[in-house]
Amino acid sequence: MDPALNPFKPGSGLRPPALEGRTRQRQEFDLLVARSKNRNYDRGMILSGLRGVGKTTLLNNLSEHAERQGWLTIGLEARPNESGVSAVRAKLGAELAAGLRRFSRKHQMQKALDHLISLARGFTLGVGLGPAKVELSLDRGAASGDIDIDLEELVEAISAAMKKKGTAFGLFIDEMQDLDSDLLGALLSVQHRASQREWPFFVIGAGLPNLPSVLADNRSYAERQFAYSTIGPLTPADAAEALEIPVNQHGGSFTPDALALLVEASGGYPYFLQEYGKAVWNVAATAVFDEDDAHLAVEEGRRALDEGFFPSRWNRPSDRERRYMRAIALAADDAPRSGVVAAAMGVTTTGVSDVRDSLIRKGLIWSPEHGRIAFTVPGMSDFIRRQPTD
Ligand SMILES: Nc1ncnc2c1ncn2[C@@H]1O[C@H](COP(=O)(O)OP(=O)(O)OP(=O)(O)O)[C@@H](O)[C@H]1O
Ligand SMILES: [Mg+2]
Repeated sequence: MDPALNPFKPGSGLRPPALEGRTRQRQEFDLLVARSKNRNYDRGMILSGLRGVGKTTLLNNLSEHAERQGWLTIGLEARPNESGVSAVRAKLGAELAAGLRRFSRKHQMQKALDHLISLARGFTLGVGLGPAKVELSLDRGAASGDIDIDLEELVEAISAAMKKKGTAFGLFIDEMQDLDSDLLGALLSVQHRASQREWPFFVIGAGLPNLPSVLADNRSYAERQFAYSTIGPLTPADAAEALEIPVNQHGGSFTPDALALLVEASGGYPYFLQEYGKAVWNVAATAVFDEDDAHLAVEEGRRALDEGFFPSRWNRPSDRERRYMRAIALAADDAPRSGVVAAAMGVTTTGVSDVRDSLIRKGLIWSPEHGRIAFTVPGMSDFIRRQPTD
């Protein structure tokens, strides 16, 4: 088929041609938005799951829905080891100021929202900028420099304006496990206060499987504060639709065997579905994709994964981290005990706990249960086993 028309999109947060298998989360969010119009406020949402399962895609989809429904939406992507609270503060303040400006233009509310934009700018400059604070000082006072107070003041002011308008303020945070812990703590307390005081403010977060425990470690009430949802691979039926719908839309089709083979090879894993979908489209000579095409596509898709997806996770870690990753890959279990991994390296568990922690922070491995460790992407072990030893 013509590669120029290929609808499949392996990548990060790229909108897939068919977003399948997320009905429950989308309905739950629809309800949150619908109820907010009647000033009935539910809890925010946390989406957690492994790499490449479609968290960013879903988060963007929810945020677009909220925006279409008239919400003020702000997006933020946290990064590991971000340089301190003032940097993330600045980023949040800048996003807020820009989001408010967009919102005020769209809804022709310039006058009503101007003071909020200045307040957001003041939040950006809140830390240690003495005179700048004074200049920006407004009716509500300048940023205090205390992130909890400043954030609460800002969210309260924005929420009040949104409530008056019968809408809400959604903060959509991706890679939330990497958020600076001071800012995270401040956000959790503000969200907590918001629900007690019926402010229309909602944090919608996405992140790795350790995100719920990162939140619970930061604030004990975080467990009750959000509706939690695990984002996993698609069921075979949804995976089949993710491949079939875009192909049908372009006048093509799959033979049942071809479709079954690709669904099976992908394990329902969204990133792999896009990669195999792209490959089968490119190899198919006619508009009916048959089993031969599917076999070729699996080969081609694996090659693409081996050249991009896996190496980006294998080449960045340090030598020591890679030795640890190889020990996991060589273990008999998919999620071996950390003690077994350490023993295979000839060291004690504590001797490699720093490596384990840094790999978790980088999002390359996670702990599916206490004392066990596993890769955050399927197929990583096989890939590592195919790599020459250094
Ligand atoms: N529900 C879905 N159906 C089909 N394809 C999907 C779905 N969700 C996401 N995808 C596709 O899967 C790929 C990965 O999606 P995305 O970047 O959202 O994953 P992620 O969980 O955010 O990954 P990471 O943890 O690496 O940030 C993208 O190519 C996207 O188009
Ligand atoms: Mg993502």
